[in-house]
Amino acid sequence: MDKFVVEGGARLRGEVRCATAKNAVLPLMAATLLTEEPCRLLDVPRLSDVEMMRRILRVLGVESEFDAEGALCTRLVDDAPREAPWELVRKMRASISVLGPLLGKRRTARVSFPGGCVFGHRPIDLHMKGLRAIGAEVEVRGGFVEATAPSLPGGEVFLGGPFGSSVGATQNVLMAAVLAEGTTVIDGAACEPEVTDLCRFLRAMGAEIGGMGSPRLVVRGVARLSGAEHRPIPDRIEAGTFVAAAVLTDGEVTIRNCRPDHLRAALDKAVEMGGEVRRVGEDAVFVRRQRPLAPADIDTHVYPGFPTDMQAQFMVLQTLAHGVSVTTEKIYPDRFMHISELARLGAHVRKEGPSAIVSGVPKLSGAPVMASDLRASAALVLAGLVAEGTTQVHRVYHIDRGYERIEEKFAALGGRILRAKDDDENAAVEAVAAAQKA
Ligand code: EPZ
Repeated sequence: MDKFVVEGGARLRGEVRCATAKNAVLPLMAATLLTEEPCRLLDVPRLSDVEMMRRILRVLGVESEFDAEGALCTRLVDDAPREAPWELVRKMRASISVLGPLLGKRRTARVSFPGGCVFGHRPIDLHMKGLRAIGAEVEVRGGFVEATAPSLPGGEVFLGGPFGSSVGATQNVLMAAVLAEGTTVIDGAACEPEVTDLCRFLRAMGAEIGGMGSPRLVVRGVARLSGAEHRPIPDRIEAGTFVAAAVLTDGEVTIRNCRPDHLRAALDKAVEMGGEVRRVGEDAVFVRRQRPLAPADIDTHVYPGFPTDMQAQFMVLQTLAHGVSVTTEKIYPDRFMHISELARLGAHVRKEGPSAIVSGVPKLSGAPVMASDLRASAALVLAGLVAEGTTQVHRVYHIDRGYERIEEKFAALGGRILRAKDDDENAAVEAVAAAQKA
């Protein structure tokens, strides 16, 4: 079990390169179930979530290994398995994305019903609605989603839910529809770049998909898909995390391997709060603080709105802004695990239903804090970079799920942060429990 030890006060300066996007890579890996041929995903980051998806694919008959260039190469060794077991699915919700491709290719699937997570209930009703709409029989039995489809005629479905479109449901229905016997129309489809990236990969495999990037996807089913090579898009959430860090620490950072067009809402908010942003070519942005941190309200929305995955990181900016800011979660109303930990560092945040009211304070003071979910943990690292004194962030395995060696990237920018063994007795107890479960 590791922790980060962070000394506040450094102004980040220099260049950092983002990895390819975890939330693009995971569904792309699931999509390799759709073909008997090898696939090659370039520049895949070494993340624990990627390792978990490799374990799930292995159980489902798809072996994968990294080649010398850091590409993940997959090959089918057995197309008989149908079941993604609870032991693996419970550790990573994103494994639900094997449901659609298993149904599309093998016409039957049994995937453990994913549990919730620290920021609340994570339903999959839209996933099931969409798969039923294209002809599958989908039941929930004994904690599993059981889906069968002797035939998949395709169909029309509206996938919008109470919080807008669903990334995962759109991806699952898409990955079943590409091998359907007929045509599928998905209305209310998610437009996140990771959905569009999946469409590009599927089309490279031979799928026929229209409306990419729009809320209306039209998929004409084909008989089979070939293998393909694909470079996943850069990680816009990692990029946004570094944008917040540059403004927060009054630094000057060039963020490379990023798509500024995928970051507009976050860049807009960074400027509103006192940052200066300059585009550097096609795949980089330069960010620095231009004036004192100003308060700003944040409402999370589906793409291209402000991403919920950047909400915690930008709240750290709000805690030090000169005034009051309100953050409202329109995607996950309970995604505020970071509030209590930020309060330990001296932040003044009050939760009011799906909102958090943040009164800026002159400074944060270092303290031991506990990571909880991936993005809240990144926020605690950002807070440690500006808090006076030392901040210890415990249980950084949460961060390692979605950020590749983030402490090295911050250190290369001048941040005073290092990884250390966690002597926290609770962590030790949890490590034993985790080892017993694994
Ligand atoms: C993806 O999760 C991301 N994960 C999440 O990132 C991200 O926060 C989320 O999209 C929203 O952008 C991956 O891509 C692996 P949704 P997903 O289905 O697909 C509700 C991170 O930190 N909903 O778009 O599970 C749901 O409760 C992770 O990297 C239903 O009501 O999200 C939520 O309120 C965290 N019914 C909203 O829709 C459903 O059937 C958006 O969820 C499905 C979802």
